[in-house]
Amino acid sequence: KDKKLWGGRFAEATDSLVELFNASVSFDQRLYEQDIRGSLAHVAMLGQVDILSAEEVTQISDGLNAVLDEIRAGEFEWRLDREDVHMNIEAALRDRIGPVAGKLHTARSRNDQVAVDFRLFTKEAAHDLAAQTRALRAVMVAEAERALDAGVILPGYTHLQVAQPILLAHWFMAYAAMLERDEGRFLDAAARMDESPLGSSALAGTPWPIDRHTVSTALGFARPTANSLDGVGSRDFALEFLSACAILSAHVSRLSEELILYSTFEFGFLTLPDSHTTGSSIMPQKKNPDVSELARGKAGRVFGNLMGLLTVVKGTPLAYNKDLQEDKEGVFDSYDTLSIVLRLYADMLPKCEWHADKTREAAARGYSTATDVADFLARQGVPFREAHEVVGGLVGVASRSNRQLWELTDEELKAAHPLLNAEVAASLTVEESVKNRLSYGGTAPKRVREAVDAAKAKLGMA
Ligand code: ARG
Repeated sequence: KDKKLWGGRFAEATDSLVELFNASVSFDQRLYEQDIRGSLAHVAMLGQVDILSAEEVTQISDGLNAVLDEIRAGEFEWRLDREDVHMNIEAALRDRIGPVAGKLHTARSRNDQVAVDFRLFTKEAAHDLAAQTRALRAVMVAEAERALDAGVILPGYTHLQVAQPILLAHWFMAYAAMLERDEGRFLDAAARMDESPLGSSALAGTPWPIDRHTVSTALGFARPTANSLDGVGSRDFALEFLSACAILSAHVSRLSEELILYSTFEFGFLTLPDSHTTGSSIMPQKKNPDVSELARGKAGRVFGNLMGLLTVVKGTPLAYNKDLQEDKEGVFDSYDTLSIVLRLYADMLPKCEWHADKTREAAARGYSTATDVADFLARQGVPFREAHEVVGGLVGVASRSNRQLWELTDEELKAAHPLLNAEVAASLTVEESVKNRLSYGGTAPKRVREAVDAAKAKLGMA
């Protein structure tokens, strides 16, 4: 064990349990690329403003690059007694180049160091998840087009009761719309966190004549943070990232729930691919939707990561508190979780086999065209409320005798309203129902075609 980098005032060694409790190296070593990038930009700037000599800058930079190579090669020894990623790297630098390594930390604190590392990481993660969300959206749009060309009709539900027939393509495009906003949320968050806190130093700024703007630009940030307390003390950039993750997870979880339900024997709307389902060790017939169940279940941990960090942050006085070390694992976890979930769904959705006969039949049952009958009457001048009452009566008659609307007799229909008859009832098919919903954003094939085309153009799809 070497002497702590902060050990000057301490007379007694750190308790070993405290060392274990305090250390973050087991997880924050993941930030080594960002940490070294930050240090290289910092030291270059220290040279530019003549705080360090050109020779010192070269020595330190070469040393940092050597450490980076060592880590990348998997040859670096991460030491718990060196606490975190920052001090592991700095100590390794000193082991390599001697006391001049100590000049790297001039005009810097671990507080702005960790803040810049973590922002760099989270910004990259946000861009990456935005791209992955976009890729899944492209899959949704492609599937929508396939379903549109095949004319697949799906029961549309409210309260999970059959409501009105819709196109399966319309359903895919609904998820595409959610994913478009999810992508936007990641990009918005990335744009807002695009500020470098480096140079905030411990909390109050520094008397050294540093150039924060140069460092910010060198690290690819739009600008430096404008307030040093905020720079080291705020974690809303991580909260925003975690919120975007949580909302995306909620969408993926709803999708999962629908796929689980629709692939049951009872619904029979689709068959999930063998490659993305699993069997049972006792029941030979089983084919379980584990991917979708886990995607639904993992929303729990992704929500938990957001709630966890909100709770960590809420009671902390400005500026840095060690509580904030708890900010990283949830971000890593949400990022990793969604990366795999998005990839799995992008692979799995095109391999799902939809059963158009089943979905059409289900769409026709449950009196799904009752609104169309009421609309038919209303178009003849019957006030809609009255038409609603008439058709409600017919549904009552039909359901008590276990029939569909088109199975009612000519007499029964005429008795309900003189404008109704068997011919009218037979003409109100699910295809007609869907075709007529031409309002902007509606499920008519014409509208859905426009939506698919617009989405394809936006996504640069052929
Ligand atoms: N490992 C710490 C973290 O992740 C780095 C910052 C430590 N700063 C300090 N003053 N103890 O938050």
